[in-house]
Order: sequence, then C-alpha cells, then structure tokens
Amino acid sequence: MRPIQAHYPATRFRRNRRTEALRRLTQENVLTVNDLIWPVFVQDGKDVETPVASMPGVSRRSIDRLVRAVAEAAELGIPAICLFPYTDPSLRTEACEEAWNPENLTNRAIRAIKAEVPDIAIMTDVALDPYSAHGQDGLMKDGVVLNDESVDALVKMALAQADSGADILGPSDMMDGRIGRMRMALEKAGHHTVAIMSYSAKYASAFYGPFRDAVGANATLKGDKKTYQMNPANSDEALRLVHRDLTEGADSVMVKPGMPYLDICRRVKEEFGVPTYAYQVSGEYAMLQAAAQNGWLDGERVMMESLLAFKRAGCDGILTYYAPEVARKLAPSY
Ligand code: PBG
Repeated sequence: MRPIQAHYPATRFRRNRRTEALRRLTQENVLTVNDLIWPVFVQDGKDVETPVASMPGVSRRSIDRLVRAVAEAAELGIPAICLFPYTDPSLRTEACEEAWNPENLTNRAIRAIKAEVPDIAIMTDVALDPYSAHGQDGLMKDGVVLNDESVDALVKMALAQADSGADILGPSDMMDGRIGRMRMALEKAGHHTVAIMSYSAKYASAFYGPFRDAVGANATLKGDKKTYQMNPANSDEALRLVHRDLTEGADSVMVKPGMPYLDICRRVKEEFGVPTYAYQVSGEYAMLQAAAQNGWLDGERVMMESLLAFKRAGCDGILTYYAPEVARKLAPSY
C-alpha cells in the first residue's frame, strides 16, 4: 500500500508531531509487558548471587534467590522467563550427561519456580554448551561437532526439561533435524502441550561474549561455532531455516542476535506470519549499559528505543535482560 499524499503545504508531517498527545495518537507500534521474555542465570548454592562483570545489572542467582526474582517479574506482568545454568566445571564432560540429568540445575530450578510462581511461562535453553568440556553446543569427535549424535543428546535433554515442567523449549543448538526429532519425542512421551520456540536464525555472532562469561563457557570454548551457527552475511538462508523448523513442528521462531538483524526479523514475519521473537543478546545489552554508565548515552531512552525497534521490525516479543527494568516503566496492558 502506498499512502496517498498531497504536496506541501497541503501535507505537513509536522502537524502530527506537534504535541505529545498527537504523537501518541499517531504512534504505529507499542511496547508492552506482554512482549517481554526475561533471560535469567541460575547457579548452585544457597542465598547467593554473583554479578556478571560484563553485563552490568545482571547476576547469576541460586535457585532460592531466583524464585524470588521470578515472583517479582510475575508481579510486574512479565509473561515468561528463560533459564540458563552456570554448571559447575566438574560436571562439564565430553559426553555431556549432566544435560539430561533430572536433578541438574535447570531442572531443579524449573520445579522450584513452578511450585512458587505457577503462572509465569518457563522457557529453557536446549544446547550442550553449559555441560560440555569443550564449550560447543553439540558432541564432538576428532575436532568435529557431530550432528545426529548431538540431536540424540538434545532430545534427551529436552525430555528431561519437559518432565520437569518447562512450558517452552528453546533449542539454540542449530543442529539439523532437531526440531522434528524433539517434537516426535515429546508427542510420544505425552508432552503434546509443550511448545518449541526454535532459535531458527541464530548467527555465529561476536555479540554473545558476555553471555559466555555468565554461563562459564568462555573458559571452555575453543574455536568458534561457524559450522552450525549461521553466517552473518546470509539472509535468504534464514527464511529456509524458519520454513524447515515450522514444517518440523516449531510453534514459534527466533532471530538472534537482535538489533543488527532487524532486517531478518522483518523478512521472517512478512514471509511466514508466525509468532516471531528476537533475542537482544548479551553483547547488545553490554554495549548499551557500558555507554550509559559512562554517561555517553541516556540508558533509559536507548533501552526503550532499542526494544520498540523490535516491535517495528515485526517481532511479537523480545528476550531481553532489561525485562524487569522495562516492565517497571510500562503500564500493564490488555
Ligand atoms: C547457547 C546460547 C548462547 C546464547 C543463548 N544460548 C551462546 C552461544 O550460542 O554461544 C547467547 C545469549 C546472549 O548472548 O545473550 N547455545
């Protein structure tokens, strides 16, 4: 649709921008608490919290503290959290067995949160990097990340999370065929209500650095993830991946990172019209926070502007470390 426009002076765009009321009235996109998924880090221990140095304002919490923080998030109207574990280095192995241990940190956290804050949706991360001795998202042999063997392991991991009460599984591993295998395994196990939000277009990005600090993967990771995460130069391939994951049974899809990939969000939403999410990743958060702390940017305004941009790009929601801070500023919406 091409809007019909009279020539100046019949059309003066500034008329609609003159006052705050007129600007609100003509605003095309809005950010609400309903758009927020809060990624949180969990660690072992009791009543402890460890700040993540490269992510000012973010910390890893023991399960008891996490439950309290999630209860506050629910009070603020945040609809979902996404759990990431800091696994003790002694439990990181070649075979990654801890990933599907029903008693691992993530699974214990899911049950603890469900018991205390039943209404908030719990999303999980399905990938092996917090559990592997080498920091890769899959199993490795002779320096190669294996595909089908990794999928076998990821399916076990996904089932353990579903058994613990996860609402949404978030496979972030980028192995081929994992969505279909997970969906079939979930159906077979009676978990037909568990949703899958596929990290469909996940790029091999340098913006994940601070996150890898938070989960302790920078210490273990050798090399990069370019044989399974996407080449940042590609766009058509993202559409093929989203299409593939939808045909395999994904309920929603994600683009990651966020801000440098808004063009991908727009293309995905326009092409498929499915629930589409973006992950404003750790490096994006770190950049904005660092500049704000130095007084180089207005922290609150760049937070709001960066998140609103995802809505404008067509996203239905955003995974953001800012979620509680944003929610405090936004009125609840219906
Ligand atoms: C693990 C995973 C990563 C992120 C989410 N899940 C890191 C990676 O792929 O190396 C990054 C999130 C962030 O940077 O905020 N598969």
